[in-house]
Amino acid sequence: MKILVCYFSNTGNTEKVAKSIAEGLEDENVEVLKIEDADPSNLKNYDLVVLGSGIYGGKLNKKVIDFMKEVSEYPPKFAFFNTHQSSTAYQKAFKRIRSKLEESGSEVIGEFDCIGENLGMPKETILGMLAKLPPEEKKRQEAKIEATKGHPDAQDLANAKAFGKSLIQ
Ligand SMILES: Cc1cc2nc3c(=O)[nH]c(=O)nc-3n(C[C@H](O)[C@H](O)[C@H](O)COP(=O)(O)O)c2cc1C
Repeated sequence: MKILVCYFSNTGNTEKVAKSIAEGLEDENVEVLKIEDADPSNLKNYDLVVLGSGIYGGKLNKKVIDFMKEVSEYPPKFAFFNTHQSSTAYQKAFKRIRSKLEESGSEVIGEFDCIGENLGMPKETILGMLAKLPPEEKKRQEAKIEATKGHPDAQDLANAKAFGKSLIQ
């Protein structure tokens, strides 16, 4: 199979996951590209495209959305992945892209997500936001942020690799 793993990553979390997914696909003909380096007119030449992004303000990065708008011919299969700070997965992240693909007869064969520590916000901004909260809520939010530290971790990346493997089984 000819496979493209294509992603947007601002602070490297989604990139780590992309590389682990590609490791799971090691016996296939796999290419890993940042979305900035991928050519939307070339997607039709792959058997499977695995598309990923971090979640920013509840959305995929605009480059991913704009890239998909440029694609006129889809590959037969797609899969998605994302990294996010919140403790629950953002199920709707790929909703629009998914329905467009399904309308066009491209099959979505899997979706993966994991927590990614927010490395993109200055510490002062986070502390400033926390300082505005009532004490109990502040504690809760601090605990939530603490729980994201170091993610994606080794287990997340092993899960990503297993996800990659599962796509070709
Ligand atoms: C400006 C900004 C906005 C973010 N918004 C969200 C959000 O709405 N929901 C969420 O779960 N995580 C949010 N995050 C956290 C990122 O999704 C998370 O850290 C992700 O792993 C970043 O991926 P990257 O390192 O590949 O860029 C945000 C991070 C930044 C910097």
